[in-house]
Amino acid sequence: MSKEAYILGTHNEELDRLGFQHRVWADAAHALWHKANFRGGQHILDLGCGPGFASFDLAGIAGHHGLVTGVDRSAEYIEYAQQKSEASGVQNTRFMHSDFAGMELGKEQFDAAYARWVFSWITDVDETIVKVAASLKPGGVFAVQEYLQWGTFQMVPEHPDVRVMIEACRESWRMMDSEIDIGRTLTERFEKAGLSISHVAPLERTARVDSLTWQWPTGFLRIYAVQLMALGLITQGQLERYLEVLPEIEGQNSAFLVTPLMVEIIGIKQ
Ligand SMILES: C[S@@+](CC[C@H](N)C(=O)[O-])C[C@H]1O[C@@H](n2cnc3c(N)ncnc32)[C@H](O)[C@@H]1O
Repeated sequence: MSKEAYILGTHNEELDRLGFQHRVWADAAHALWHKANFRGGQHILDLGCGPGFASFDLAGIAGHHGLVTGVDRSAEYIEYAQQKSEASGVQNTRFMHSDFAGMELGKEQFDAAYARWVFSWITDVDETIVKVAASLKPGGVFAVQEYLQWGTFQMVPEHPDVRVMIEACRESWRMMDSEIDIGRTLTERFEKAGLSISHVAPLERTARVDSLTWQWPTGFLRIYAVQLMALGLITQGQLERYLEVLPEIEGQNSAFLVTPLMVEIIGIKQ
């Protein structure tokens, strides 16, 4: 079973956040695709493509003789991606509006597949991996980037008003039956689905205040705070204190943050 709605929402602010997030992590995605030997002429699946930010980069790799298929359950995101394809004249993308539970993929259709920040939000993880594995040609690769331990996210100097926000996020995912740290379970699930592991590596950064990466988790907390309040996990006062304390931390040249630990994995279809 998959959840009723993607819990981070699909409103415009979240769409912009996903675009920004892609800019921050695009180089890591490209490095993984290079390692997995994604290349021209391939048919590549972008599972849980969202508004297609990674799909368009993948389309650049697949080239004129290749194709990228993006699948997502959000009608708004799929429409955005389709309109962007048309407006920019990109010919080699297809976007499919579907929940993974109802997703119909052809047998041995794809040369490669990619998923990033997807498996934390679904409950039918094994079923989805089995579907992707069946849709890969023998020798095809499935490359993923997912959280391994979100709670490693920290700001230095540590401040209790920041910690409250971080802990509230973790509690929200526990409440909603999400396994944010899904990365821990994926190598085993891949092997069970007939995907032999060829690469596992951590993905983590430190970021100074003036960097793009600094704005990634801090921007996320600002947007997600609305949800945290709606869930009763933080009070208005706690949010206000966080919003007061953040500029104080940002005023310190010595400050830095450590991004939530992710893991990247490549599995090869046997
Ligand atoms: C955090 S976003 C990541 C989007 C994209 N992979 C990226 O890296 O920018 C997660 C995406 O998974 C999609 N999603 C969540 N559950 C899904 C399901 N059961 N079926 C299809 N898509 C789903 C959401 O709609 C959302 O677009």
